[in-house]
Amino acid sequence: MGTEEQGSQKSGKVAPAKGKLGVMVVGMGAVATTMIAGVEAVRKGLAKPIGSLTQMGTIRLGKRTENNAPRIKDFVPLADLNDIVFTGWDIFEENVYEAASHAAVLDQKTLDLLKPYLETVKPLPAVFDQYYVKRLNGTHIKKGKSKRDLADQVRADIKAFKKTVDRVVMIWAASTEIFIKPTAVHESLEAFEKGLENNDIAIAPSQIYAYAALSEGVPFANGAPNLTVDTPAMVELSKRNAAPICGKDFKTGQTLMKTVLAPAFKARMLGVSGWFSTNILGNRDGEVLDDPESFKTKEESKLGSLDYIFQPELYPDLYKDLYHKIRINYYPPRGDEKEAWDNIDIFGWLGYPMQIKVNFLCRDSILAAPIALDLVLFLDLAKRTPSLCSIGIQEWLSFYLKSPQSAPGLYPEHDLFIQSMKLKNTLRHIMGADLITHLGLEYYD
Ligand SMILES: NC(=O)c1ccc[n+]([C@@H]2O[C@H](COP(=O)([O-])OP(=O)(O)OC[C@H]3O[C@@H](n4cnc5c(N)ncnc54)[C@H](O)[C@@H]3O)[C@@H](O)[C@H]2O)c1
Repeated sequence: MGTEEQGSQKSGKVAPAKGKLGVMVVGMGAVATTMIAGVEAVRKGLAKPIGSLTQMGTIRLGKRTENNAPRIKDFVPLADLNDIVFTGWDIFEENVYEAASHAAVLDQKTLDLLKPYLETVKPLPAVFDQYYVKRLNGTHIKKGKSKRDLADQVRADIKAFKKTVDRVVMIWAASTEIFIKPTAVHESLEAFEKGLENNDIAIAPSQIYAYAALSEGVPFANGAPNLTVDTPAMVELSKRNAAPICGKDFKTGQTLMKTVLAPAFKARMLGVSGWFSTNILGNRDGEVLDDPESFKTKEESKLGSLDYIFQPELYPDLYKDLYHKIRINYYPPRGDEKEAWDNIDIFGWLGYPMQIKVNFLCRDSILAAPIALDLVLFLDLAKRTPSLCSIGIQEWLSFYLKSPQSAPGLYPEHDLFIQSMKLKNTLRHIMGADLITHLGLEYYD
């Protein structure tokens, strides 16, 4: 058993996933509606949940010779898709059928088959302030005397929803807010609560939703790169109320590729002198990211991975001079069908240079929807797991996120394969199964 995985083997079984799981989605745009419509399509047997580890993945147990690899959803007690109930908030009044039709990610024929259900999912009025998302102007918005008052209104929404379901998880799939640096108001829960009273400018709407969720003991995931639960105040609240949190910003396309390729270069001790990444996309997310202040938030989130993976301080000859540049260009004709190009300048034996080009023609929300679903299901599992529910940050969910969150003083793990091992070993650990180290010497005894 590796030291990191040993952890505290706190006893206590994972509680079963009994009854309905309520999923409260902040922002019912392209990603959210693609997730909701997708879950309904799978429930109706119209499609397969491709891209979802919780639905399709297996987990090896025991030795390779044992041939024991159950499905993850049969190994850990996850909520069944048929038990999920969706609701949420948006700054526009459209129901999920209308919003999904506008997002134009899924074809209209599929949406029409799902219409009777999708029409029933209607957003509640949102907490919104255009100062934090410059390119949007909503109409379906809560009014309040203070940020504290708005947080109380969200808490009231959660309490009302809780009466109709057995458990609740919240996920932010709303627009990227402007770049905010943590300030004194984020240092402790006490300071944060004062900040809510005083309408502190460093408290954005996403933080108000997160505060409301964690105050109600509801786990919270953040699909966008804005500062939300990655502050001491929110970690404190998460631990206090046994409401698990994780990092932020769905790791879907270009960064997914980066966190696959970069570990390969490093494993082979190949140097990298430059990595230029550019994108075109034309959905509403692209429009919001066209604002320099929202772009800055995304840029910071996307930049982190390479530095952490390459560890230039350990390998100065290989990575000290790496030039990393990221561009996102709003280009309406492409809609949700983003195209990403990467030019990677690498060097090998004796410093001889080579180049790699990656051209990913992806579908943004098709990649993000299963991640959103998995995060919701795994956070609900964490909430029911005695050894996980009160530790705050669920580092094992870093697998899904561009900006993983880790304990203070600990660098985040970005390598997709380490993240995947960590996730699966966490599942083995909570179920009392042996961890897998890949040592394998026993086969040669
Ligand atoms: N699709 C991907 O591959 C991907 C990857 C990583 C992160 N993300 C992030 O996920 C988020 C959602 O992406 P999307 O493509 O669905 O965007 P979108 O613009 O289609 O949807 C966002 C929705 O949030 C709503 N909204 C904005 N502020 C709100 C608030 N304060 N309260 C409630 N609703 C609010 C908007 O009205 C909109 O309907 C974005 O922040 C994006 O950066 C997406």
